[in-house]
Amino acid sequence: MTDTELRVSKIENGTVIDHITGGQALNVLAIIGIDGSSGEEVSIGMNVPSDRLGRKDIVKVEGRELSENEVDVLSLIAPAATINIVRDFEVVEKHRVTRPKTVVGVLSCPNANCISTEDEPIKSRFDVLDDGVRCTYCETIIRDSIASHISAA
Ligand code: CTP
Ligand code: ZN
Repeated sequence: MTDTELRVSKIENGTVIDHITGGQALNVLAIIGIDGSSGEEVSIGMNVPSDRLGRKDIVKVEGRELSENEVDVLSLIAPAATINIVRDFEVVEKHRVTRPKTVVGVLSCPNANCISTEDEPIKSRFDVLDDGVRCTYCETIIRDSIASHISAA
């Protein structure tokens, strides 16, 4: 995309999450715990044209460098996402997201009897499988619509 076609302006310092599966930008924000309430400057493009993906979403967070660990859980809903760290308007680091082995405190278990959903100080914990995630405590498996089980917001 040339500069004249930019829909969302460049950022000075922060993180650009690019090549997000079309339509998943709001779920991406929920996963990384950004809802605008603490004043973060966030730009979102949804379903913008992409050579590689056809349509993609893009999220730009000014003033925050998100770590690889923070964003790896995004791989569950946006496996092709790239994380660009920007300083002084230049991309200084570019990473692909990688699938984590476990996901702690981000998804909630759909099993109402699961110890992680009761009034206990226990964070949810899921093991990542090839085709979904499995609750470490009760072994319930989530395969479809993982995004609808996001608890972080
Ligand atoms: N970007 C930004 N602000 C900057 C620099 C880059 O918002 N100061 C955005 C670009 O618009 C792009 C992404 O960060 O969406 C990655 O930038 P860059 O690596 O320059 O673009 P590409 O080479 O097209 O990236 P890729 O090869 O990953 O598609
Ligand atoms: Zn469970």
